[in-house]
Amino acid sequence: MTKNKITIAIDGYSSTGKSSFSKAIAKRLGYIYVDTGAMYRAVTLYCIDNGLIGEGGFPDTPEIIRRLSEIKISFAYNNETGKSDTMLNGVNVETDIRGIEVSQYVSSISAIPEVRGQMVELQREMGKHGGLVMDGRDIGTVVFPNADLKIFMTADPRVRAIRRFKELEAKGKNVSLKEIEKNISHRDYEDSHRTTSPLRRAEDAVVLDNSNMTLEEQLQWFDLLFSKVVGATKQ
Ligand code: DC
Repeated sequence: MTKNKITIAIDGYSSTGKSSFSKAIAKRLGYIYVDTGAMYRAVTLYCIDNGLIGEGGFPDTPEIIRRLSEIKISFAYNNETGKSDTMLNGVNVETDIRGIEVSQYVSSISAIPEVRGQMVELQREMGKHGGLVMDGRDIGTVVFPNADLKIFMTADPRVRAIRRFKELEAKGKNVSLKEIEKNISHRDYEDSHRTTSPLRRAEDAVVLDNSNMTLEEQLQWFDLLFSKVVGATKQ
């Protein structure tokens, strides 16, 4: 059987360049790209805007669960940027979800099993026809355990913090490198230690450590891997 359009699952630590890499390979292949982190970020923004995160940064979990049916997340193609923007209840939140405030709370919101259940359902629906590159933390382990190709991305934490710092600086956001390093190590820990769908490498995922690789080098690496996998699925 020849399978033309496969499902590609990309997981890994925060700020390892998953979305730049995933977007680039989706473009090369003419596949759909889905940024699942953006979905959890949008839920977090909803919680912040609606006072569902209390003193000390603790989420009001029962109320969040009660309101889940009011949180509608979708993606809309932006003609100006040529990319998909994240929509929360019909409002474009693409910029708002990238700030440090959302980054601070997103790990605790995404640890709520009911939130994950709703997001995973949506993600499976988006990917049901294949031809998809999806990035996140549990794509190869939970969302699409039978994905044809799984990649697990990692990089030195200091390298990741510097990359994130430059990214935010370019967007005119005033955040210190120290604050970013703290946020990255906090998220690494929280994402890997939560009870529901913790971040871990699927046994059949190929590791990509891009600490010393440019995006172009990562794409060359991917081309080789992809041709092997597609060759194998055509057998
Ligand atoms: O990819 P990102 O850094 O934008 O993701 C933000 C947070 O969302 C991350 O700290 C953990 C959570 N997340 C998750 O739990 N599962 C996913 N599939 C994607 C993201």
